Amino acid sequence: MPTCTTEPMLPVKTMQDLVSSLNEAMGNSGLGEDLRTVRQVKQLMHSYVSQSDDWVQHAIYHEGSRYTRNLVDDGNGKYNLLILVWGEGQSSPIHDHAGSHCMMKLLAGELDEQLYAWPRDGALELRRTAPLRTNSVAYMHDKIGLHRIGNPSLTTRAVSLHLYSPPYNMCKTFDESTGAAVQSTCTAQKLTSLMASSQNYACSPGFTADPTMALPQGPAITST
Ligand SMILES: [Fe+2]
Repeated sequence: MPTCTTEPMLPVKTMQDLVSSLNEAMGNSGLGEDLRTVRQVKQLMHSYVSQSDDWVQHAIYHEGSRYTRNLVDDGNGKYNLLILVWGEGQSSPIHDHAGSHCMMKLLAGELDEQLYAWPRDGALELRRTAPLRTNSVAYMHDKIGLHRIGNPSLTTRAVSLHLYSPPYNMCKTFDESTGAAVQSTCTAQKLTSLMASSQNYACSPGFTADPTMALPQGPAITST
């Protein structure tokens, strides 16, 4: 059972500490409607201080690829903890989060978040652009809207830590000018499976839109 305390149950000094604490906090339930657990998990994410020695083995990236999504822990099926590596100037499409809770923590470099309202009549409305701050935790949910994350630097890569609960492999991506949505895959590559298969560290692509699965425009939604 998830606990209702608001203090970290273990000191979170390393990425492994964080994984252990996240598993303890979310137990068999993951994140749902219980906002106390959501706050507790956000606090755990916040309490971890980025140290590159902790995460460099997960920060797989191939020159010339799109940004990469690398699985750190699958949370026994209740969440996914990912490390994303962003090449210079790379950004995600505008996307939703399939109804899941999303938390993001900048570990290195720079990232900007562009927040959009759900489409109503055509083009998406950009509500704000804000930089993510190193070691702070940003929260996102479909109830807030849609967003795009991007690395504004043309000289430095960025690395970020993302938690999604419940985990998902499909979401919607949106065309900024028309608001049209397509179903897209957003899977992550698992480091251990790559090592076991003796392959080179292949890049795990970012969102891959399936052009055969055009969707109607998303529902109007009130921002929170
Ligand atoms: Fe996102």
